[in-house]
Amino acid sequence: MGGSIRSGRTWVSLEGLDLGQLPRHVAIIMDGNGRWAQSRGFERLYGHRRGKTSVRAIVELSRRLGIEYLSLYAFSAENWSRPALEVSGLMALLKHFLTTEVERMMKNDVRLQVIGNWRRLPRDVQTALRQCVERTRNNGTLTVILALSYSARAEIASAVRALARKVQKGDLEPDEITEETIAASLGTAGIPDPDLLIRTSGEVRLSNFLLWQVAYTEIYITQTHWPDFREQEFVDALRDFQQRERRFGGASPKVAAPTEPEAVVPAPARLRAAH
Ligand code: FPP
Repeated sequence: MGGSIRSGRTWVSLEGLDLGQLPRHVAIIMDGNGRWAQSRGFERLYGHRRGKTSVRAIVELSRRLGIEYLSLYAFSAENWSRPALEVSGLMALLKHFLTTEVERMMKNDVRLQVIGNWRRLPRDVQTALRQCVERTRNNGTLTVILALSYSARAEIASAVRALARKVQKGDLEPDEITEETIAASLGTAGIPDPDLLIRTSGEVRLSNFLLWQVAYTEIYITQTHWPDFREQEFVDALRDFQQRERRFGGASPKVAAPTEPEAVVPAPARLRAAH
């Protein structure tokens, strides 16, 4: 606990952070690029460009700290409805990122995975993605999961269709459909659920991101716009996570059991209180 590390050109204080209790998987809704740019009189795309620098910084620090999985919501299925110029600018940015970062990913043992309907992306972006995923497939220190053209509901619907086809072919009994078989049919198959979800820019919603996977994820919301979200605030979020008591629906060991519940609370009221 404590000390500082150097991440890129920045010194980051790890004061109060327990390096033995880090989340295995952090998911991030990188929001606020547009507002960041507009509030400074710039085009929205400039905000996305600055957001790319935050991506690089958080990937690098995650790897240095030993976080195993980092999921980044880079483009939602709904984002296709943005102005064509913004969409094409984002796609160009993504392609540039993939082609320039692949060597760094190889050097740093970072693996890239993609979730979402990425076949909707322009051909050149698909090619850059495929090459990056292919080249980094045997890396293992950190896995970065890019959500592109992603919708959690579409992901769940696709999993249900895959399972229904197995049932139709006689390869699966309906009773064999469990939480595990559903999870194994999602784009995130084999990846542990996120322990921590960070959303920048203050909105308090999930925006169709990893809906199945975040059932018991701790959520951290910050007012900071994504282009300003850098290493030190990431450490703040990790520290905040370490203060949480994760009960996964169970009782808190800190709360003493009531002595005579039957005598105090009538049965129907107890039932209501349990939900
Ligand atoms: C949300 O901000 C952000 C996006 C839709 C795109 C995220 C893209 C990046 C961080 C840059 C590139 C990423 C990679 C992986 C290279 P917003 O535009 O919705 O902001 P607003 O809510 O202020 O309008």
